[in-house]
Amino acid sequence: MGVDKMMTTAQVETVPASMTTLATAPATDRGAAGGEGESSQAHIIAIGGAKGGIGKSLLAANLGVYLAANGNRTVLVDLDLGGANLHLFLGIWSLERKIDDFLEKRFAHLEELLLPTKYGPLLIGGGGGALGAANIHHARKLKLLRALRKLRADVIIIDLGGDTSFNMLDFYLAAQTGVVMTTMDPASYLDAYNFIKVGLMRRLNRIFGPESPYRLQKDERLASLVRDFVAEVGSGRRVASLVDRVAAEHPQGLQLLQRVISAYRPRTVINMPTGENDVAALAERLRKVSARMLSIEVDYLGELAYDDLIHQSTQKLVPHVARHPEGSLARFCERMVAGITPVTAAIDSPLALSA
Ligand SMILES: Nc1ncnc2c1ncn2[C@@H]1O[C@H](COP(=O)(O)OP(=O)(O)OP(=O)(O)O)[C@@H](O)[C@H]1O
Ligand SMILES: [Mg+2]
Repeated sequence: MGVDKMMTTAQVETVPASMTTLATAPATDRGAAGGEGESSQAHIIAIGGAKGGIGKSLLAANLGVYLAANGNRTVLVDLDLGGANLHLFLGIWSLERKIDDFLEKRFAHLEELLLPTKYGPLLIGGGGGALGAANIHHARKLKLLRALRKLRADVIIIDLGGDTSFNMLDFYLAAQTGVVMTTMDPASYLDAYNFIKVGLMRRLNRIFGPESPYRLQKDERLASLVRDFVAEVGSGRRVASLVDRVAAEHPQGLQLLQRVISAYRPRTVINMPTGENDVAALAERLRKVSARMLSIEVDYLGELAYDDLIHQSTQKLVPHVARHPEGSLARFCERMVAGITPVTAAIDSPLALSA
């Protein structure tokens, strides 16, 4: 069954309108992660979170198919550098070109790596694990982020690995919309919370550290206060205590700090929940602990139930949304997109972080 089937009147009427907003909203966080270069108008969504086969690539691929079928030029990028397999979720068994070709300078332009897929989105596939995430040269990573932002697209979806290496965090921070996935296993949601936390710490270090695009980088005492806080955050210190100290000792940096914190707004997704009450309780717990410890808002985008048909689609290497345009995953993508749009619109305007 082709994706044309997806273009039901209902979807065409409801989804593109919200996606127009998603695609063209000003880029709040662009520059906050790296501060590099000019941007295209693409809305970047990064899907990260816990490790261990929890559905990140499944969601990335199917959200891409869903958005492409609704008229968005959509590019999927596999940045799970250590364990890339997004192509399998799009029916591609082996890749002619992949991100390694850019990272190892065999291709100068990211556009040259774009591969069409049978299901709508364009794909930049990932390497076969030869190039470990830790091995990318910093300058090449910045070049990759710059090139990503310039890709001609309405939406770019980045599939991330489940680790918290600097590379992974920087890819995550390059997105306007950062999705953090988890299941209800304690190991998984602790991972997810940790991902949220270290993502914020990485952003603070980059904004206030030596790579900062802001003039406050010259304030070495403030930079070292932030650096020390980040180094000690594992010992249970709250971000509120950093805000208090900056207010008292470096008031000139307070506004930027508050803007950085409030613009960092992860969106959680719970996959394969086990009980209705429990799932709401877990979402709430993640929200509350993030507010208490990190002083940030976390938006819950909803839960995706386990579905045997999803499993079967994966086995057949066909995106579930293409096989079942009215199925549970397509409905989830629809809700997810509707949940992202108003939040993005709300945080984009007053908190623009352009240097
Ligand atoms: N809601 C669901 N219903 C049925 N199967 C699911 C569901 N979510 C994920 N799966 C299946 O779980 C498996 C693992 O998913 P996936 O590869 O997307 O995880 P991942 O988080 O990307 O893993 P990794 O960290 O290794 O990259 C896949 O076979 C996928 O189809
Ligand atoms: Mg994956």
